[in-house]
Amino acid sequence: VRDGNGVKGLADLGLSAVPDRYIQPPEERIEKQKAISGHIVAPIDLSKLDGPSHEQVVEQIAGAAEALGFFQVVNHGVPVELLESLKDAAHNFFAQTPEKKAIYRSPPVKYGTSFAPEKEKALEWKDYISMAYTSDADALQYWPMECKEVAVEYLKAITKMVRKVVEILIGKLGVTLDLDDSIMNGLVARKMVNMNFYPTCPNPELTVGVGRHSDMGTLTVLLQDGIGGLYVKLEEDFDALKKGEWMEIPPIPGALVINVGDVLQIVSNGRYKSAEHRVRTSSNESRVSIPVFTAPKPSEKIGPLPQVLETDGVARYRQVVFQEYMNNFFGNPHQGKKSLDFA
Ligand code: SIN
Ligand code: FE2
Repeated sequence: VRDGNGVKGLADLGLSAVPDRYIQPPEERIEKQKAISGHIVAPIDLSKLDGPSHEQVVEQIAGAAEALGFFQVVNHGVPVELLESLKDAAHNFFAQTPEKKAIYRSPPVKYGTSFAPEKEKALEWKDYISMAYTSDADALQYWPMECKEVAVEYLKAITKMVRKVVEILIGKLGVTLDLDDSIMNGLVARKMVNMNFYPTCPNPELTVGVGRHSDMGTLTVLLQDGIGGLYVKLEEDFDALKKGEWMEIPPIPGALVINVGDVLQIVSNGRYKSAEHRVRTSSNESRVSIPVFTAPKPSEKIGPLPQVLETDGVARYRQVVFQEYMNNFFGNPHQGKKSLDFA
């Protein structure tokens, strides 16, 4: 990690201005008011999937995945105390000395700063730790002490919900699945837990926490704290907002954010949107967020589902081996939805 203690090391110095290498070109900067904060979309109540409103909730989920690619869920079955413990664990990890964090330099756990520091023109104001999941035993052996137990418990707690949401989305494409279908297993074979730390920043108007990107995998479940700053770009007009405008995904206590990744956009032949999003920094408080990424195995071939092509006629994406898709994604700086051009 550059500078040993990442962006946190810089923030701890109490700088009155960010170093030049964190200053974004004007077109990438995030103006707070322009980003239309305060536009709140009601969260989806997942407990209603088990009652008479089942079909309505299914429509809400599929509708949100088509229109925005982002939605929030409540009554998702994950205890709120577990969400709080997970955010605390993230703070505890980043609060450690640089020497302790530096241990995590290689898979399955990687501590880093920005996204592709060697290739970026301007760095992101963010430190992170990525923890690839293979089994509980491996996670408990390799993941950092400060967060491993709670992260494993959280992963277990969200797994059923993730599969349910994927099942609903794939089902809405006219493909029937049950919970142990091979399409399902192919889509969510891999899991990764990231913890992002966005230290207090003296210049939120000049920097980004995370630059514009879409997520690479199938579905992302994101836990954010109460600070705010996550913005999504509208792919079509939405309520009073116009296509191309940025809408905040405001923090809702106890809620989880779910978003469509590139793989779901590809398999649905473009019906579900892997929306571009980015994060603004804050001058008041450090922010943490914890995304869980689900994705296919690297050897899996990804392409529009045959059943979808029967109705659509035309394939909007080619078939790609997921490993090659990943190499392209991680080999480039964040650049909006450009990763999808690879498919
Ligand atoms: C990301 O999309 O990379 C992070 C999202 C967040 O921190 O809210
Ligand atoms: Fe993301």
